[in-house]
Amino acid sequence: MADLNTTFLGLALKNPLVVSSSPVSSDPDSVAKLEAAGAAAVVLRSIFEEQIREDVAAMEASLDGDTSAAAMDYLRAGLAERFGPQSYLDTLADMRRRVKFPLIASVNCVAADKWVSYARKIEMAGADALELNLYHMPVDPAEDASHVEGRRLALIKAVLRETRIPVSVKLSPHYTSLLAFARAADALGVKGMALFNRFLQTDVDVEKESMFLATEYSTPAALHSQLRWAAVLRNRVKCDIAVSGGIHTWDGLVKALLVGANVGYVCSALYVRNDFCVIGEILAGLADWMGRKGYQSVSDFRGKLGEKDLTDGDGFERVQYVKTAASIG
Ligand SMILES: Cc1cc2nc3c(=O)[nH]c(=O)nc-3n(C[C@H](O)[C@H](O)[C@H](O)COP(=O)(O)O)c2cc1C
Repeated sequence: MADLNTTFLGLALKNPLVVSSSPVSSDPDSVAKLEAAGAAAVVLRSIFEEQIREDVAAMEASLDGDTSAAAMDYLRAGLAERFGPQSYLDTLADMRRRVKFPLIASVNCVAADKWVSYARKIEMAGADALELNLYHMPVDPAEDASHVEGRRLALIKAVLRETRIPVSVKLSPHYTSLLAFARAADALGVKGMALFNRFLQTDVDVEKESMFLATEYSTPAALHSQLRWAAVLRNRVKCDIAVSGGIHTWDGLVKALLVGANVGYVCSALYVRNDFCVIGEILAGLADWMGRKGYQSVSDFRGKLGEKDLTDGDGFERVQYVKTAASIG
């Protein structure tokens, strides 16, 4: 019988499948169902630093303020259902009483502003870890890459000073040098990084001739970028890696583990299938595959396909790219 036990952010997990942040992880009943369905842990829906700094009404009044248009639309989209900071803590404490598996709180944050002491409250309310969701689209043309990244690193440092629970970061793939930024975050002491957050998708309504931001669920095709970066980062950072994006079936989780992820996150599959039983199916598929391959435990094969299989330095990837491009057309 395959042993699915693993660790993530220093937490003991019964398997490597974690439910990532979204509305399904915002209320205690739903989180209890996710635990019963077999998930190893859950990342709570994000609270926004703007919510922490001000109450929701004040924030609504300031929606046309200076934050980026994309962030404002993101906020507006879920504002009515989103919690205020005290009810986020109360809900977390309620979840803590009801479930045994690890609870990872999530804050969407941009800067180490007045909200950072809230991280301690999250810890006191019973979170086992805290994920910093660095979802933000820089739109100030005067702000260069090093300034944007410096602000994020200062934020991570401030949160690490404030808390004793493990802190991880949820990254986007949109860095000029993701590897350098990831290593800088790792050097500060984050315990994990989730690859990747997905920005809301920009679309155009051709009848209304207006732009809007669509919430779209992923497909398994979304997994490729995460696999590439997990493989590249695996031996370049000390912290754990979570692959988030495109895990819909057991083989998606197996691929993530093979390239060195400690866990796979699942989100869209829960919505697409509209049934939490997808969690059990993914885990049964993983156990079955391990049995067929003769693996006793997850550590027997985690990271088996490292960077050398993908890039072999700069040369292999470049050669494959040139060969593929040359063979098309
Ligand atoms: C409806 C919805 C709401 C989401 N809300 C959050 C959120 O509050 N915080 C966050 O970090 N990620 C959020 N995400 C992103 C997911 O956690 C996940 O990283 C992303 O959807 C990619 O994984 P998937 O392909 O399994 O969906 C949300 C995704 C969806 C579909």
